[in-house]
Amino acid sequence: MLSKYHWWRDAVIYQVYVRSFLDSTGDGIGDLAGVRAGLPYLKKLGVDGIWLSPFYPSPQHDHGYDVADYCGVDPLFGDLAEFDLLMAAARRLGIRVLLDIVPNHCSSEHPWFRAALAAEPGSPARARFHFADGRGPDGSEPPNNWHAMFGGPAWTRADDGQWYLHMFTPEQPDWNWRDPEVAAEFDRVLRFWLDRGVDGFRIDVAAGLYKHPELPDSDDPEADARTRDSVNPLAWNQPEVHDVWRWWRAVCEEYTVRDGRERLLVGEVSVPTAREHALYVRPDELHQAFFFDLLGAPWEADAFRKVISEAMEDIAGTGSTVTWVLNNHDQVRTVTRYGEPATEGSGLGPARARAAALLMLALPGAAYIYQGEELGLPEVVDLPDDVLTDPIFRRTGSRARIRDGCRVPLPWSGQASPFGFTSGAESAKPWLPQPEYFAEYATDRALADTRSFWHLYRDGLQLRASLPQLGEGTLRWLDTPPGVLAFTRGDGLVCAVNFGTAPTPAPVSGTPLLSSGPCPPGVLPAATAGWWLADTGL
Ligand code: GLC
Repeated sequence: MLSKYHWWRDAVIYQVYVRSFLDSTGDGIGDLAGVRAGLPYLKKLGVDGIWLSPFYPSPQHDHGYDVADYCGVDPLFGDLAEFDLLMAAARRLGIRVLLDIVPNHCSSEHPWFRAALAAEPGSPARARFHFADGRGPDGSEPPNNWHAMFGGPAWTRADDGQWYLHMFTPEQPDWNWRDPEVAAEFDRVLRFWLDRGVDGFRIDVAAGLYKHPELPDSDDPEADARTRDSVNPLAWNQPEVHDVWRWWRAVCEEYTVRDGRERLLVGEVSVPTAREHALYVRPDELHQAFFFDLLGAPWEADAFRKVISEAMEDIAGTGSTVTWVLNNHDQVRTVTRYGEPATEGSGLGPARARAAALLMLALPGAAYIYQGEELGLPEVVDLPDDVLTDPIFRRTGSRARIRDGCRVPLPWSGQASPFGFTSGAESAKPWLPQPEYFAEYATDRALADTRSFWHLYRDGLQLRASLPQLGEGTLRWLDTPPGVLAFTRGDGLVCAVNFGTAPTPAPVSGTPLLSSGPCPPGVLPAATAGWWLADTGL
């Protein structure tokens, strides 16, 4: 399995949010040894690889996306020896391992940033970041009007009066990629982990890194914070960033030439159109970039069809494959997202989330699953204010309760919190409280119940691995009534989804392979998806 070339083109990768996966030490925080213990579970599920959220030394202002040392392991999560054990165990099971690398910014505790604060204005140490004098007679106004993604100004004043740029929190200063030392340092970091055997990297904020060289004022400075997306055209998506991805791709190729194992770079690329997105996955740049438009689409047939068609046309046209994603650690989980408005009836969110999963797994290309998605976990919407840790909450004056609800530690077994998440005493407390209803979603129950989300994902992954029609390739839409989508994949495989609220005739006659809910013969019920092998050519 590990020798399959271009394995990444249709790989299914499971995102492990390390602090919420499995805790081996009893401190209520998941860790690398916990991930190692969970690998057989993931093998059984049938994923090709895992992406580990950041576990590097960090003051954890943004749960590790504020990196103080790119080549270490935070004691919260283990140490390098434990990392090596995890790599070896994953290799034995044929599970590839991707790390999360954060090149747009570091932690304000990073030694280079501390050195920059201690250095003079205009010094080489400051040139690695964006330091600038303020405006106004005494320089007390920030150098430009940009706002940070998580709210508030994008500049913070240092003790000596200069300002530094941070597109996220003040504890996450942005690197200046126009300084060659920064690029060289990341080359060293990549090689450090590649030498330890990793299969690639998920790249945080991959449309970031470079800013407009003059850092001019923006016409709409609050657009990023308002949309929670990287839309400020002066701060993101600058043409120079593509040179970095060419460089990193060349580093990966160098390792492949050496040992024949293909490495993967997958970017978190948030740009306005599928066409711009496609530029990031040109043959000498990133292998993959998450296609977030599917995640952002409302539960409507037309909206899904539009984003899927655009992706197939613009991205698959580059020679890359589309990288589909429905959930991650920054977004409200599908079960809850598709369940709104709640008045439409309970059970709708889970049914739609199951249907969306089958749709995603039938699409041509690669797919990413976020931990807990395979259990059908809902978003935890009623966490009390005093346990919330997402910096967005704090930086929006407690208005935006956005990202904690999808990060609650996984339930593994039992009837009460910690549901087997921590190996500590019964009284051990997970870092975010788990609601009582998590008992219904625990992995032991999910594995024992063939109607569970887990079995749907497992069956879908097994079919994907065994049917040549699935994975890479193309799709062709079939004619369907409003509110229904159906497409063929290769030789007679049909996937159909009923987005509506009433049953519809199944758009194909053939052998049913898998459905997201009960499907009487010839019928596709509301909020249901199915896969068939068609009787006749389509
Ligand atoms: C990415 C991560 C998010 C993090 C941000 C800043 O969007 O997915 O969790 O807060 O980058 O690093």
